[in-house]
Amino acid sequence: MPSVFIKTYGCQMNERDSEAVAAQLVAKGYTLAPSEAVADVILLNTCSVRDFAEQKAIGKMQNIAADVRKHHPEVVLGFMGCMAQSRGQELIDRLPDVDLVLGTQKFHHAANYLDEILAGRRDKIVDVAAEQGSEATIREHLLNGNAQKSVTAFVSIMQGCNQYCTFCIVPYTRGEERSRSIPDIVAECRQLVSQGVKEITLLGQIVTSYGKRGFGRAELPLGQDAQQRVPTTKKTSFVQLLDAVHEIDGLERIRFTAPHPKGYGDDLIQAYARLPQLVESAHLPVQSGSDRVLKLMHRGYTRERFLGIVRKLRRAKPDIGITTDIIVGFPGETEDDFEQTLSLAREVQFDNAYIFKYSQRRDTPAAEMPGQVPLKIREERNHRLLETINEIGKRKYDAFVGQRTQILVEGPSKKNPARLAGRTRCNKIVVFDGSERHRGQLLDVKITRAGSFTLYGDPAIVNL
Ligand code: 5AD
Repeated sequence: MPSVFIKTYGCQMNERDSEAVAAQLVAKGYTLAPSEAVADVILLNTCSVRDFAEQKAIGKMQNIAADVRKHHPEVVLGFMGCMAQSRGQELIDRLPDVDLVLGTQKFHHAANYLDEILAGRRDKIVDVAAEQGSEATIREHLLNGNAQKSVTAFVSIMQGCNQYCTFCIVPYTRGEERSRSIPDIVAECRQLVSQGVKEITLLGQIVTSYGKRGFGRAELPLGQDAQQRVPTTKKTSFVQLLDAVHEIDGLERIRFTAPHPKGYGDDLIQAYARLPQLVESAHLPVQSGSDRVLKLMHRGYTRERFLGIVRKLRRAKPDIGITTDIIVGFPGETEDDFEQTLSLAREVQFDNAYIFKYSQRRDTPAAEMPGQVPLKIREERNHRLLETINEIGKRKYDAFVGQRTQILVEGPSKKNPARLAGRTRCNKIVVFDGSERHRGQLLDVKITRAGSFTLYGDPAIVNL
């Protein structure tokens, strides 16, 4: 049987989609190739959110076409995901070595299309059409194929985005919001927990919009259990989903990403206080600290509303870890607007922030706005904001030193595989000396040292 190598760019949704495609191919008898040099099929799962991500994947494919094809002329090359969706046939016109272009609603057809190409029945395939019900097709996991047990798993609860932020290409690459049903999602989570998974992260472009536009096909919005238990009137569908997932025995932790700040109603804030398995962590993309820029971005909240959400969250859970995404150099952003972003970062005291230089995306309203900010200024603001974020982050991480905290041990540390790594409930990585038997355990550790956005600890031998 052929072997496949999948390289993933971009967000956790992409990671999850790649995993589901890999699982689908393994179920059909494919093996996973350890490197692209020995693979029969190479797929790049792409990201379009910034130009840089697109250029990286295109450059990579050019190298593969020049390099791998020379030694392995039969290799099948494919693009999938967001850039495949937005560029379609254009990718093959530009890179004639590419055989397959698979859009974001077509992942479940990967095996069939590859069969056709490998058997020589079809030459090139481009499929980027919309497909009803595709939100429910990202459900296969690779856990069975893993020799080592997976402690954490991602579950895709919805696809698409209807927010239309003026800078963002995602509504055009991922399509309209479509949600899976609660019973469907709960069944997948139960299955994962029965296979040893301890922590589940619910994934979607904007998870707080879950279920707002109805549910896929003829499925009921709520499972019977949940329907009987939850008074549906005051809770958003997303909080109803959290309630239903929280019922699963053996599931230790629930996370979700990414929410939209405007989706942080009181029901969600109360859920943090109410549901012990829902961890104290929130990734709240603020994008800017200036009301004027937030309005131009079409974000749907003000600086004050955002600060209000943070205050309420901290009142409900004082130890909550709060991270964010910020764009610098959005069209028309003045020095004064930028300083408001700096002051918001100081006011909130984010645990960490992902900072992005604004990148013009085609067909988005912001790309046509006046006052595009020169690269030099975007770089300079990126640098200044990064310094502020690092300084705040350092203080926050240093404050953990000497404390005891609970981590879920995920496996070997990425940077130093001789050591183990786990995560606190507030989503900070803790590296410690341990052994394989710790994997999957909820462990108390004492924090001994703080590095750059990493903590180091010792398993705390119980002596209270
Ligand atoms: N330019 C720069 N950053 C962007 N993001 C989304 N679109 C753009 C763009 N055009 C950032 C946002 C979002 C994160 C995933 O990527 O901050 O939250």
